Amino acid sequence: MLRLSNISLTQFKNYSFSSFHFNERVIGICGLNGRGKTNLLDAIYYLCFTKSYFTKTDAMNAQFESDGFRLEALFNDQKVVLILRLASKKELLLNDMPYEKFSKHIGKFPAVMIAPDDIELITGGSEGRRRFLDTVISQIDEQYLQQLILYNKVLQQRNSLLKRFAEQGSANWPLLEVLDYQLITPGKYIYQTRADFMQLLMPLANDLYGTIAGQKESVALEYESQLHNKSFEELLLQNREKDLVLQRSNGGIHKDDILFLLNDQVFKNIASQGQRKSLLFALKLAEFQLLKSYKGFAPLLLLDDVFEKLDQDRMQQLLQWVCTDNDGQVFITDTHKERLEDALQKLGTGYQVIEV
Ligand SMILES: Nc1ncnc2c1ncn2[C@@H]1O[C@H](COP(=O)(O)OP(=O)(O)O)[C@@H](O)[C@H]1O
Ligand SMILES: [Mg+2]
Repeated sequence: MLRLSNISLTQFKNYSFSSFHFNERVIGICGLNGRGKTNLLDAIYYLCFTKSYFTKTDAMNAQFESDGFRLEALFNDQKVVLILRLASKKELLLNDMPYEKFSKHIGKFPAVMIAPDDIELITGGSEGRRRFLDTVISQIDEQYLQQLILYNKVLQQRNSLLKRFAEQGSANWPLLEVLDYQLITPGKYIYQTRADFMQLLMPLANDLYGTIAGQKESVALEYESQLHNKSFEELLLQNREKDLVLQRSNGGIHKDDILFLLNDQVFKNIASQGQRKSLLFALKLAEFQLLKSYKGFAPLLLLDDVFEKLDQDRMQQLLQWVCTDNDGQVFITDTHKERLEDALQKLGTGYQVIEV
């Protein structure tokens, strides 16, 4: 069982210093717009993933005109501290012991966030979908994250090399082959792991979609990868000339995608707003479910402004599912205190409402 009982935020976004105590499984967070509800959820996310769910640069999370931030939390009896000093490196400590590799932390305290802009996962570019896959798999497969870090490092080197070739007007093939060789091992591992994971995700997401949408229409998920029909070796060789011209790597798992289909047609082309939301929730809850079965306990569920996204009935149904059929801790934000309390009360489980 995973429980977050305490969190303190120092110079984190709009929080100069605040501390929150959570003594229930279901926690409502309310407050007017701009009060820091999303920031509080993001602080929790930060301590689980060592980075923000929303911003790419760590420094943006330090309070304006400050020199950094500090987050501290208690997960069960484990203390996690994350410190960012703008002048120096990020620090992460578990029970006062600094981590050498932050990647070792990932998966210890699994969490799933659902936020308003996540609909991009359905309608946006492929990067978000790869990130979705990577985030889930990294939490259940330590090796995967190591391989991914390695792959991205080599890929960057390879792209720099291609740029250099272009500048010099000549290519040093043996040098490129060294990097190709280094790319292939992690590339194949990532491909195979994503393929295996998709086999689990597909039926689950389909099932959950049916439940949430409450209709008989069926969604299908397909894992798209250039590696389906070719070995990585062949793919690199085949793209070589193109890589040189475009000065970046065109073949590999960094081009993977998930294709969504609704009754055999491309989902985002034909789906309504409601159907998109249903698919988003189906994916996120499938993520939740898979994490739970791998870990043997439910991940934290961070729900940001979901009341704005779903109608009251569906929301209640969803909450019922996450709160009654599961024993995970749930954090849910809303601007309307009455609406939130009303919904939580109906669940018949212990809850707490805090105001920010
Ligand atoms: N680095 C920062 N320093 C200080 N305040 C920040 C920083 N980043 C964001 N904020 C402030 O945080 C507030 C938004 O908080 P947010 O959690 O999104 O609110 P809510 O979700 O309750 O609507 C805004 O007032 C914004 O100015
Ligand atoms: Mg918000």
